[in-house]
Amino acid sequence: GSGEWCLQKRDSFKSETLVGNETVPEIGCLSIIVLGASGDLAKKKTFPALFHLYCQGFLPPIEVHIFGYARTKISDDELRNRIRGYLVSERSASPSKDVSKFLQLIKYVSGSYDAAEGFQMLDKEISKHETSKNSLEGSSRRLFYLALPPSVYPSVCRMIRRYCMKKSNLGGWTRIVVEKPFGRDLGSAEELSSQIGELFDEPQIYRIDHYLGKELVQNLLVLRFANRFFLPLWNRDNIDNVQIVFREDFGTEGRGGYFDEYGIIRDIIQNHLLQVLCLVAMEKPVSLKPERIRDEKVKVLQSVLPIKDEEVVLGQYEGYRDDPTVPDHSNTPTFATVILRIHNERWEGVPFILKAGKALNSRKAEIRVQFKDVPGDIFKCKKQGRNEFVIRLQPSEAMYMKLMVKQPGLEMSTVQSELDLSYRQRYQGVTIPEAYERLILDTYDPCPFLSLKYYCLQCLPLQLDKR
Ligand code: NDP
Ligand code: BG6
Repeated sequence: GSGEWCLQKRDSFKSETLVGNETVPEIGCLSIIVLGASGDLAKKKTFPALFHLYCQGFLPPIEVHIFGYARTKISDDELRNRIRGYLVSERSASPSKDVSKFLQLIKYVSGSYDAAEGFQMLDKEISKHETSKNSLEGSSRRLFYLALPPSVYPSVCRMIRRYCMKKSNLGGWTRIVVEKPFGRDLGSAEELSSQIGELFDEPQIYRIDHYLGKELVQNLLVLRFANRFFLPLWNRDNIDNVQIVFREDFGTEGRGGYFDEYGIIRDIIQNHLLQVLCLVAMEKPVSLKPERIRDEKVKVLQSVLPIKDEEVVLGQYEGYRDDPTVPDHSNTPTFATVILRIHNERWEGVPFILKAGKALNSRKAEIRVQFKDVPGDIFKCKKQGRNEFVIRLQPSEAMYMKLMVKQPGLEMSTVQSELDLSYRQRYQGVTIPEAYERLILDTYDPCPFLSLKYYCLQCLPLQLDKR
């Protein structure tokens, strides 16, 4: 089956680890621990991504066990039923026997995020699994995924460091994955960085922004730097404005515990949309090494001018405060539009309009690059619209270019049309992986073709939060 093929393919470049002076293949069993397993991210993204990796053969049951951890007191079966419910509703095509086999890999441990007891219990369960899989002592791999609000990262990291590290130095590893937003502002991000940095070495820490794992976001580097076509156009001489838009057609239902403390700017704009902005606006990196890509992104962010109050709109959708997890008098924005201006040779004068909102009329994430009008227009086509290049990240991944053509027929009139690269039609039969599948796989089995840790946020300054 296709799962087997993937496994073999992946095996040929199986990860290695350094033991003394020797590199040895990572053969120990793998424990994936999802902290915050009762939450929205775990339900909608983490467990489904693990399931799809499992179905494709990237999580062989012989090596892998998955643990859920959170304060909510539920049994293994209750957690499994929640996950089953979501998997079945999302992907009706998944055979139920695959779902059942996958769910058998999952165990749940309940405990708090700042006390020894729960983490000791967790460690015991992980060790039990490692022993049962006859893992060479110490070669086991432990991946801790923090699907939690950032406010608890420091205490959770301390608990992991103290009670849950793999037990010897004979190969294997312990890694932690932390979600965005990384802190609330620059000060708290720096503090968080140093707190986590005291507990783990940099190669053990994965700061994840899942937008970087989306197919069309990954495509931005190729699109911009592998096409002669775009090189002369991608600048202030030709581009009027760039819009980077995120809309969701559902609210924060039940996520008030996390969302209300952060709001839409910290939830979406400061991380996901800024990452996209950087890839759209940056200069060509000298190589695809993650540090070189980061260097170019940082230059873009350093060139962003302070945001003007009159170029910001904030809003809150009606009904937000009806959510019982949201405080009655919450002033947290669920919608924001912000104009960023990049003060450099390429982009001076071109507004980058970032928009994000929850509970709107549709779900969409896209980049719209609007071009200037044609100088000396002899067709009077201005009213029909400008050239526009649209990259739709989701749903239905696509890139299309709006351009003027002659209306086919005897008359000489103009009409706006589209050069359309819709992925579903162009790449029939290709399944585009969910962003989290790529990201999670990269944390335990890095892809040699795209540099390790490409997805990490790597200290992008929190400019917006300085306001
Ligand atoms: P949730 O509000 O669902 O929180 C996750 C879990 O954390 C909850 O089930 C709860 O578990 C615990 N929790 C919630 N609030 C607190 C609190 N104030 N103190 C301690 N524990 C708390 O949030 P999400 O799962 O949506 O988000 C978690 C992280 O994932 C965030 O950093 C978010 O940015 C990120 N993220 C979310 C995505 C999504 O689609 N939801 C997508 C990408 C990233 P319990 O009470 O059982 O311990
Ligand atoms: C997360 C936010 O980072 O992204 C959520 O915390 C949001 O609020 C989610 O719903 C959207 O992700 P996607 O991949 O569905 O666009």
